[in-house]
Amino acid sequence: MKYILVTGGAGFVGSNFIEFIFENYEDYYIVNLDKLTYAGSLDNIKKIDESRYHFYKGDIRNFQIVESIFKKYPIDYVINFAAESHVDKSLSNPQKFLETNVLGVQNLLEVSLKYWKNNFDNKKFLQISTDEVYGDRYSKDYADENTLLNPSSPYSASKASGEMIVKAYGKSYGLPYNIVRSSNNYGPKQHEEKLIPMSINRLIKTQKIPIYGDGEQKRDWIYVEDNCRGIMAVLKKGNDREIYNLGTGILTENIKFIQALICRLSKRLNDKQINNDLIEYVEDRLGHDREYKLNCRKIKEKLDWKQTIDLEKGIEKTIDWYLNKNDC
Ligand SMILES: NC(=O)c1ccc[n+]([C@@H]2O[C@H](COP(=O)([O-])OP(=O)(O)OC[C@H]3O[C@@H](n4cnc5c(N)ncnc54)[C@H](O)[C@@H]3O)[C@@H](O)[C@H]2O)c1
Repeated sequence: MKYILVTGGAGFVGSNFIEFIFENYEDYYIVNLDKLTYAGSLDNIKKIDESRYHFYKGDIRNFQIVESIFKKYPIDYVINFAAESHVDKSLSNPQKFLETNVLGVQNLLEVSLKYWKNNFDNKKFLQISTDEVYGDRYSKDYADENTLLNPSSPYSASKASGEMIVKAYGKSYGLPYNIVRSSNNYGPKQHEEKLIPMSINRLIKTQKIPIYGDGEQKRDWIYVEDNCRGIMAVLKKGNDREIYNLGTGILTENIKFIQALICRLSKRLNDKQINNDLIEYVEDRLGHDREYKLNCRKIKEKLDWKQTIDLEKGIEKTIDWYLNKNDC
């Protein structure tokens, strides 16, 4: 049995990851540490095998609680999903983002080092980062793992800083690590403050949906299950102290994504009132990046990862999940 400390496992990606583990592997025990901020919910983690799972409510910045987990369980891997993750909120309260996304990471590293330093064999600290650390790639090349980091928002700056402290613990103390830079996830269990769930929730009530600026910002949308599969590939096969971009490599304008969502939802509910007239263009977000462009050759070639759920299928699965949740 391998023991994984998953942090932020009550949030969107973390809870999908835990579900992915229980559906696909029998030899992992998961300890989930989550502060249950507004973004986390225990409702997200219902389908679990209790004999291989334990939940701790707590802050990744709290040394004592993280240490108590290492004392109780022989932790092999730490996967750090916990973060303040909403870019808009980072613009109004950057400090909170630095506290969790930088100091929280350093605290997890410190405890990991304390318990692993006598024998790093088969141990790994896996930091979940984002394509946003490369900043705006408009009229620039696709960013590979060696591209200079150039974050735009306090959120992406805090995630880039989190990566730096992980690398420093690797270089200075020999702590084994990987960093995954994922693209824009969508799928079940995402907090309704985010574009896709917010849009679905409004569209089913035929309410207007706000779209920033001209809506032509391009993103690399990845279905969350494909992201989880990629994270698992890095955990199992990633070369020590390496970074992996994780995305589809396919760019879609936000507005095109939303129009596809509207079209699918309208057909699914047989409701012609759900149409593009519900799109309302609003003032753009401060410092809004036009394009994120990930070069994902490394994870595809070295770790044999590939996208399995395309946009059409992913949108259908996402809609199904939110409609079931809302009893539509
Ligand atoms: N969602 C995406 O599209 C995306 C893309 C790339 C990278 N990421 C990264 O993936 C990770 C998960 O993102 P998400 O979308 O699931 O975020 P989320 O906001 O849905 O979930 C974050 C979780 O972390 C918990 N948390 C926050 N602060 C904490 C703290 N101090 N201590 C313990 N727990 C805390 C919250 O309660 C919540 O359950 C983040 O690190 C994010 O930067 C997300």
